[in-house]
Order: sequence, then C-alpha cells, then structure tokens
Amino acid sequence: MPGRLTLLETDITRLDVDAIVNAANSSLLGGGGVDGAIHRAAGPDLLAECRRLGGCPTGEARITRGYRLRARHVIHTVGPVWHGGTAGEPALLAACYRSSLALAALHGLRRLAFPAISCGVYGYPPDQAARIAVAETAAFLDRNGLPAEVIFTVFDTTVRAAYDAALRQQQG
Ligand code: APR
Repeated sequence: MPGRLTLLETDITRLDVDAIVNAANSSLLGGGGVDGAIHRAAGPDLLAECRRLGGCPTGEARITRGYRLRARHVIHTVGPVWHGGTAGEPALLAACYRSSLALAALHGLRRLAFPAISCGVYGYPPDQAARIAVAETAAFLDRNGLPAEVIFTVFDTTVRAAYDAALRQQQG
C-alpha cells in the first residue's frame, strides 16, 4: 500500500482534502488545540451543526460539513485521555481511527487528514499513539479502497518523529 499513507507537518485547517479529522471532546462543542483551530477556521455554522449532533462517545466519530474550511467535511472523533495505558486507552484510540476511516469510506471520501489524536491536551504518549494510528489505518486501507489517501498531519517535531518512526516500521 505504498503512497496511500503520508506524513505532513502543517496546520490541518489549511488542507484541501475531502475531510479533516477533529480531535474533539465528547460534547462536540469545541475546545482548544486542533478543535479550537478547526472551529475558528470553519466558522460558527460548524458549531451550530455540532450542537444538533448531541455529543459523541469516546472512540466514536461523527461527520459534519466543513463550511469555511477548504476541506468539504470534518470528521469529529473523541480520543481517550491518557491515564497510564491500563484504562482501555489503546483500544479506544484504535477505535477513533477505525470509526473515522469507516465514516470516510461510507461517504465515498478519497483524501482524509488526521491530526495526532489524543497527543496534546489528552496526554497520550506520541510514540505509542503513532504506532496505533499507523497500524489501524494501514489495516483499514489493506481491506478498503477508500479512502484512497490518508495524510497524518503533525504540528510539532516530537510528534513528527513519532509518526516518522511508526511509518518506517510499518513500511518495513
Ligand atoms: N493542525 C494540526 N495539528 C494540530 C493543530 C493544527 N492546527 N493544532 C494542534 N495540533 C496538534 C497538537 O500539537 C497535538 O499533537 O494536534 C494534536 C492533538 O492535540 P489536541 O488538539 O490537544 O487534542 P487532544 O490531545 O486529542 O485533546 C482533545 O483538547 O482541544 C481540546 O476540545 C478538545 O477537549 C478536547 C481535547
């Protein structure tokens, strides 16, 4: 599956893709980090649509329009808060990637960009999170033709190094 997984160090709100994934919280009513950046770039209509969704459990995903973003859609997923790794965090983070990918495939989306879910405020160790992100995404793409391309969008050098290592390990 060479070429279907790429790594980019940039602001995810600038990407011209079919959907960007938002690292949201269970209220879906916005926050800081990438959630705040996406809502600022998309404008108030995004929050209005999110209000109608009634929240989202950890590990699940919901899709909205992108409004003022270049991305046509936003897929909101809620990552686990890191509590040391023995409270089901790995399984919940894996579920975020699977749920988001399944929604993208269901909607026929070709290009999807993920931020490093849970690697900021939620405190997930980037090296462990990146391994889960890459493994789950690679497994999904092996079984599905859509999305055609997934872009891991990182915003700092520590997380970038973690994804670099995870992608090298995955691509052998
Ligand atoms: N583009 C790409 N990545 C970004 C951007 C951006 N514009 N802004 C931040 N990031 C990166 C962070 O550097 C981090 O590596 O996204 C990753 C996820 O960090 P957070 O945004 O803090 O998300 P998370 O750790 O999942 O915590 C979610 O934070 O913002 C609140 O409402 C959100 O309560 C929720 C919690």
